[in-house]
Amino acid sequence: MGYSLSSTLISSDELKKRVRDIASEISREYHGQELVVVGILKGAVFFLSDLVREFTQDLKVTIDFMAVSSYGDSTKTSGIVRIVKDLDTHIGGKNVLIVEDIVDTGLTLSYLVKLLKERSPRSVRVCVLLDKTERRVVEVPLDFKGFEIPDRFVVGYGLDCAGLWRNLPDIMTVDQEENP
Ligand code: IMP
Ligand code: MG
Repeated sequence: MGYSLSSTLISSDELKKRVRDIASEISREYHGQELVVVGILKGAVFFLSDLVREFTQDLKVTIDFMAVSSYGDSTKTSGIVRIVKDLDTHIGGKNVLIVEDIVDTGLTLSYLVKLLKERSPRSVRVCVLLDKTERRVVEVPLDFKGFEIPDRFVVGYGLDCAGLWRNLPDIMTVDQEENP
């Protein structure tokens, strides 16, 4: 079974505008405060790097990364989350903002929120670019959100299909072909 690109769901222009809006929301929320931005590798890298550059200058921003892997195939989440790379920094007493590319079942994010809350931060909030609402299995509070999207597998702007297509400037849907 092969995969091929289908059509553009969100253009780079739309992404740029929405990222700017979310960045101003976040800037207002954390006005003048310290903020540890935690990106979830690798999908959130493009979103995070665009987002933090749009923050107002009064925010005292540091950046850290975590890598997780969920056991499963390339298009489905199994629900079991393994920490592949943990944070380099201590988050005790800090405001933490988890930045993730997409929330699907919610299993990855709910696990991460729980894990980071155990480290006594001042606050933990979640910023996600894409939300596949129909697929939610566990509730996870999304404090800042880019777009709600239908139940379609998407790639681009950091999102991948078996490692490919992260570099696309737009968010695109993927088709599965029986006989590639
Ligand atoms: P969840 O734990 O089911 O919410 O899955 C979240 C993770 O699944 C994301 O971090 C992505 O890595 C991956 N994922 C879910 N849907 C898509 C998609 O449409 N395209 C690319 N990755 C996806
Ligand atoms: Mg991911």
